[in-house]
Amino acid sequence: QPTLADLAERHGRYFGSATDNPELTDTAYTKILGSEFDMITPGNGMKWYATEPQQGVFDWTSGDEIVNLARKNHQKVRAHTLVWHSQLPDWLTSRQWTASELRAVLKKHITAEVRHYRGKVYSWDVVNEAFEEDGSYRETIWYKTLGPGYIADALRWAHQADPHAKLYLNDYNIEATGPKSDAYYRLAKELKAQGVPLDGIGFQAHLALQYGYPTTVEDNLRRFSRLGLDTALTEVDVRMQLPATEEKLAEQATWYRDLTAACLAVRRCVGVTIWDYTDKYSWIPAVFPGEGAALPWDEDLRPKPAYQALREAL
Ligand code: XIL
Repeated sequence: QPTLADLAERHGRYFGSATDNPELTDTAYTKILGSEFDMITPGNGMKWYATEPQQGVFDWTSGDEIVNLARKNHQKVRAHTLVWHSQLPDWLTSRQWTASELRAVLKKHITAEVRHYRGKVYSWDVVNEAFEEDGSYRETIWYKTLGPGYIADALRWAHQADPHAKLYLNDYNIEATGPKSDAYYRLAKELKAQGVPLDGIGFQAHLALQYGYPTTVEDNLRRFSRLGLDTALTEVDVRMQLPATEEKLAEQATWYRDLTAACLAVRRCVGVTIWDYTDKYSWIPAVFPGEGAALPWDEDLRPKPAYQALREAL
């Protein structure tokens, strides 16, 4: 039977999964990872703490392992992520930087990492989670020290280092229209008008049953397409309060189906990535206590109703 990737490819889209280095010794796991998907995202291996653990000392081991595995399996890679406020190394967060120092640190990091993976990745999440829920800029080390221009700078530096990689801004809670999504819409429009190399917006889509389905997602994706941008669902999971029941799993399945259908309905929504594929390796239980069961395969790598729903949507 065709895989999710096969089904997505019939629509000219991809269907991807995140993965992480520790899981790659699990052969039952890697078998499905290598066959069902045509796009892979390293869940942690390309983040700053992993790639530049000491200032100026780069470590590509984790990212390379995933890129090499993807290559072996004829999969593309959504690289994640260059500029973020989280999972930064201590050397970077434990001291004060002047604007010119921090600019140089950022430029060097982006240039080194994007160069290293040049020609090997489909896209980069250049800036991750730049806005607050109310649409104001998140007060990160980058924003506080460099001002909002750090976003355009980061995109330009990344483009210089790999002119062929698609460059994205990526965030959560922007699937529905609202102040945070509007902030991206305004920024994207402005960046395009200024000729800044921005190719797409990534909608993480970390959803939770108890907060309701983002019914405006299709219209929202479409307004970004109209700016001449690609869009993608980049980190999909649909968590629930545990225990999972048959009803909740059925509801979850309709969310996976509707999200996928929304992407397919929008020209320039290029694909869907789930934030790992099995509950065995989901990040949710560690970060949202009492919640979980967020992915289309269960902890024993058995497909859940959400998996069937994805197949139907595709
Ligand atoms: C998560 C990873 O999955 C976890 O393993 C890690 O402990 C924390 O980060 N938004 C993002 C991702 O952009 O990088 C995050 O990944 C999940 C939320």
